[in-house]
Amino acid sequence: MLSNAKIALDPAFQLAPVDPRVYSSFIEHLGRAVYDGIYCPDHPTADALGFRRDVIELIQPLRIPMMRYPGGNFVSGFHWEDSVGPRDQRPRRLDRAWRTLETNQVGLHEFGAWCREIGAEMMMAVNLGTRGIDAACNLLEYCNHPSGSYWSDLRRSHGAEQPYGIHTWCLGNEMDGPWQIGHKTAEEYGRLACETARAMRKIDASIELVATGSSYPEMPTFPTWEATVLGHVYDDVDYLSLHQYLGDTTGDLGDFLAKSLTTEHFIRSVVATCDFVKAQKRSKKQMMLSFDEWNIWYHSLGKDDEIQEKHPWQQAPGLVEDIYTLADAVVFGSMLITLLRHADRVKIACLAQLVNVIAPIMTEPGGGKAWKQTIYYPFAQAAQYGHGTVLLTDVTCDRYDSKTFTDVPYLEAVAIQDEAAHTLTLFAVNRSQTDSLPLSCDLRAFGTGRVVEHSALFGEDPQAVNGPGREVIVPRPVSGTAVADGSLSALLPPMSWNMIRIQCQ
Ligand code: AHR
Repeated sequence: MLSNAKIALDPAFQLAPVDPRVYSSFIEHLGRAVYDGIYCPDHPTADALGFRRDVIELIQPLRIPMMRYPGGNFVSGFHWEDSVGPRDQRPRRLDRAWRTLETNQVGLHEFGAWCREIGAEMMMAVNLGTRGIDAACNLLEYCNHPSGSYWSDLRRSHGAEQPYGIHTWCLGNEMDGPWQIGHKTAEEYGRLACETARAMRKIDASIELVATGSSYPEMPTFPTWEATVLGHVYDDVDYLSLHQYLGDTTGDLGDFLAKSLTTEHFIRSVVATCDFVKAQKRSKKQMMLSFDEWNIWYHSLGKDDEIQEKHPWQQAPGLVEDIYTLADAVVFGSMLITLLRHADRVKIACLAQLVNVIAPIMTEPGGGKAWKQTIYYPFAQAAQYGHGTVLLTDVTCDRYDSKTFTDVPYLEAVAIQDEAAHTLTLFAVNRSQTDSLPLSCDLRAFGTGRVVEHSALFGEDPQAVNGPGREVIVPRPVSGTAVADGSLSALLPPMSWNMIRIQCQ
């Protein structure tokens, strides 16, 4: 039996507003993400452009504000010019990142139109693997310059009279990774990123730029990479990127459920490194973070080697298709809570990815049904209700030790107040595999309150998954949650993701 967990909350103790861009996502030209995922001209629900309406309908509740594109590893060998102009004249290219065939039938204009359909802006990555300053500047001129120059007039001749006005640009992808095409040392990347940033800003001074951080925190070069790269680009970029995927690598569920503690440590270390460079430079500027790839990824690891090594150059083969369990959704939820609890520095976060490739939304191969994975729900609930100001949350709860972690809190939580709507929303994870977690929260400083909803993702079987036409893991209402005498009391089911919404007066 777990003892009562307590959260002390006061509207006076605010951390920072939630930047809506923390609910961004990512689509890469990889596997069936684009072709057979969002784009499927033969599908019965396809629109005039060939995009699946049923997939768009599943995306819409996620209210995604920004989509990172076109990669990922793919971007480091990409010639963006291949993806514009008449479709029947676009080259079919070997994508060396994933060893597949890229037909370029979906390119910049088509993806831009799809983003408009889902109501998202584009976050564009430039190729700093095989290419450099010129290609990045030409792409920016093509996208953002109004008219009267070679690249902007080429865009207009391709049917886009108005510029795209893309605001946020990633300077390459995971350039520290030996797997990356054209991978670089921190010195090489830092210099190139700095010069590319300066040249791009000459074309459009209004853009925001993201420098590439380490591919993941276990990289041997972390955090020296960050310090060295920022030494070059601190004054020229707005964000440093973080990427992290969590997985059950030890076969110990208690350990897996604790994994978001590494995300907490990762963010703190990157913030410390940014602030170290800030101090070194006597700078007044605060570097913000773009956590532009995050998710759970382990089920499919190693399973695609056969395709990539023995049967390469296929068009849109199924690659990196993790099927997520209930346990995955709970760990996913704790990762999301961790991102929100750093709202003062994490201004952008991209769920990687969105359709078919390590994704909340799947489509059956060959144009069948679209369906929602377990991880869809924590994201959808946070994207809908997680807006306002993150409050400082002081949590007291029981703790456990696992195979590789000590002192793991059973409760992971974040509280977000929407002052205009007079609401308080709590997102919480109970890490216990066996016990419900009693939670109380002193709300006297908020005046009177009423519980509008407590819904949770939980179940008997941690390995339960959803499938096409079989969505068994969905949020369910939890009864008994109430506010009385200025105190919230709730019981969080074992191994669960929870959302508690309170209307304050
Ligand atoms: O999201 C899948 C891959 O993970 C991306 O291409 C790469 O950036 C990362 O390693």
